[in-house]
Amino acid sequence: MEVLITGGSGALGQSLRKIFRNSFCPTHAEMDLTEANLVDKTILSHKPDVVIHAGALVGIRECEENKKNAWTTNVEGTQNIVNALKKIDNNCYLMYISTACVFAGEDKKFYTEDDIPNPKNYYSLTKLCGEIVVRQYHNTCIIRTNFAPKGQWKYPKAFTDRFGTYLFADNVANGIRDVWKKRKTGIVHIVGNKRISMYEMALLAGSKNVGKMTLKEYKGPPLTVDMSLSTKVWKKYKIR
Ligand SMILES: NC(=O)c1ccc[n+]([C@@H]2O[C@H](COP(=O)([O-])OP(=O)(O)OC[C@H]3O[C@@H](n4cnc5c(N)ncnc54)[C@H](OP(=O)(O)O)[C@@H]3O)[C@@H](O)[C@H]2O)c1
Repeated sequence: MEVLITGGSGALGQSLRKIFRNSFCPTHAEMDLTEANLVDKTILSHKPDVVIHAGALVGIRECEENKKNAWTTNVEGTQNIVNALKKIDNNCYLMYISTACVFAGEDKKFYTEDDIPNPKNYYSLTKLCGEIVVRQYHNTCIIRTNFAPKGQWKYPKAFTDRFGTYLFADNVANGIRDVWKKRKTGIVHIVGNKRISMYEMALLAGSKNVGKMTLKEYKGPPLTVDMSLSTKVWKKYKIR
């Protein structure tokens, strides 16, 4: 069985590669999502049975400042994958990795798969548009999640007043494997069993000297304040 992973060099992609050991993970240059011809050529020659589409432009500021790049990568890139899968017509199972940030997170928490998205920034909007694109393909699972890598937090400070049901990337990859085994379609939230702040998450990740900050100190694109997810269709995972 051939598993093709996009974004294989990224934070989640590296965790996925440990689980799907024989997967084919084309590099950005080998299969630039924005190049329809390259996507077609790669997918038509490999005829994967499973595609885990984790490749995306994920920086919130970067997407806000370069909307064209965000749109072509996250929306048109996803469309290129769907178009190629329709051409091979082999009932390939498509897993699209989306985000808890499709929700507004203002006066609600623990969003379930049935709740209505309302993205706050351009990154989240492109991820939601990607969800709509993959719905054109019959054998699709949309995974919404929220994770951080283990180790030093990538910023000097972390929010004490932004929350999520975070997991580490390895936990999410395990969850993706579980969902893949059941070949679930529709929307599945892969969530942690505890709602914690980003600061608490940074400490759990092993950051020794991360500082605290609040949203009052933040300047930048609007953010989803509460990214906590719940699930009506799947289990919750313990963060470890
Ligand atoms: N990080 C989070 O907290 C989080 C939360 C929820 C959901 N997600 C979703 O999870 C997925 C993985 O996120 P991540 O944090 O692992 O991201 P990441 O570390 O930034 O990795 C992104 C990956 O996408 C690739 N990529 C970017 N543009 C591409 C293009 N035009 N063509 C081909 N590949 C391209 C990158 O390759 P290069 O580095 O070579 O460009 C990289 O391998 C994304 O879909 C993201 O939206 C992330």
